[in-house]
Amino acid sequence: MITLGIESSCDETAIAIVANGKLLASSVSSQHDVHAKYGGVVPELASRRHMETIAPLLEHTLGKAHLKLANIQGVAATFAPGLAGALLVGLTTAKGIAFAHNLPFIGVNHLEGHINAVHLEYQGIPFPHVVLVVSGGHTSLYEVKAFGSYQLLGATRDDAAGEAFDKVAKFLGLGFPGGPHLEKLAALGNPKAFRFTRPKFNDDSAFDFSFSGIKTAAALAFERTADKTEQMKADLAASFQDHVVQFLTDRLFSAAAHTQAKAIVISGGVAANGHLRETVARPATVAKLPHFIPSRHLCTDNAAMIAYVGEQYLIRGKRSPWSQNAVASAEVGV
Ligand code: KG4
Ligand code: ZN
Repeated sequence: MITLGIESSCDETAIAIVANGKLLASSVSSQHDVHAKYGGVVPELASRRHMETIAPLLEHTLGKAHLKLANIQGVAATFAPGLAGALLVGLTTAKGIAFAHNLPFIGVNHLEGHINAVHLEYQGIPFPHVVLVVSGGHTSLYEVKAFGSYQLLGATRDDAAGEAFDKVAKFLGLGFPGGPHLEKLAALGNPKAFRFTRPKFNDDSAFDFSFSGIKTAAALAFERTADKTEQMKADLAASFQDHVVQFLTDRLFSAAAHTQAKAIVISGGVAANGHLRETVARPATVAKLPHFIPSRHLCTDNAAMIAYVGEQYLIRGKRSPWSQNAVASAEVGV
């Protein structure tokens, strides 16, 4: 089967083609230039840029795969979660292509895409495994028992980890989106210079996260330091990053132990962070726990993961109705 995937949930227009679980071509057009001056994604501008980009990006991606629309056998698009107006651009394009070419169509949850992106690079990942999805909008832990069978183990109660990276980067005067810039600055700093405390929950929440307190503590530490040197900023970036990374890693390993997982996986934009990748890989190697970390381009938003999940469902005979709408918030495995 040859499946076209479209992703437009936030500020990346992305198109990919997957054939029987293998990636043929993937293109991502980022809108960072549009939103940088506002320091965050402006929904209306995001939708408009998706509208301008999507058709040329489709032609470009078909060209990369040496294919024509007539070769496509199924179409998948992200329907949730995300900015409704942005989602509608990709979803409507996908439905239009499927309708015009008499092809099966399937709507895909973006989070299910992140959970499964790893299968594009690694075959035979044992079940059950635990996936940490850590991005700008989500920080969640899932037990994956089989393709399509997910149990949500825990999630952030406030900000997503990527959101906290972006906000700290913003007050440090770094570029947008902040995560990659903060990582670069952190490489020059001392991770032990500032100490942050972990949030404590009163109820049964072993696998939940919270990042708004850490973000506020970092902002206060910045405000209270009179001498705002470049070294101080690097130290603060390194200390914040290390604290978040240790928190994410500890939760991931406790969830793996709790569920007797046969493997661990990380995914989502923050999984592109080098410090997180190393901090997860090292103890996993020591403990001989198989760990699978997708390449950076499959961690950040992309359509390859949407085409992959869509194709798996289409192969199993699942279809979405033509009335499939965009949905702003939707979990998987609840
Ligand atoms: O998965 P993604 O591309 O979009 C969402 O679904 O949210 O994730 C974007 C998030 C942003 O918050 C961005 O700053 C963060 O991932 N990010 C990083 C890095 N690369 C992207 N955070 C920390 N270090 C990075 N290298
Ligand atoms: Zn994402």
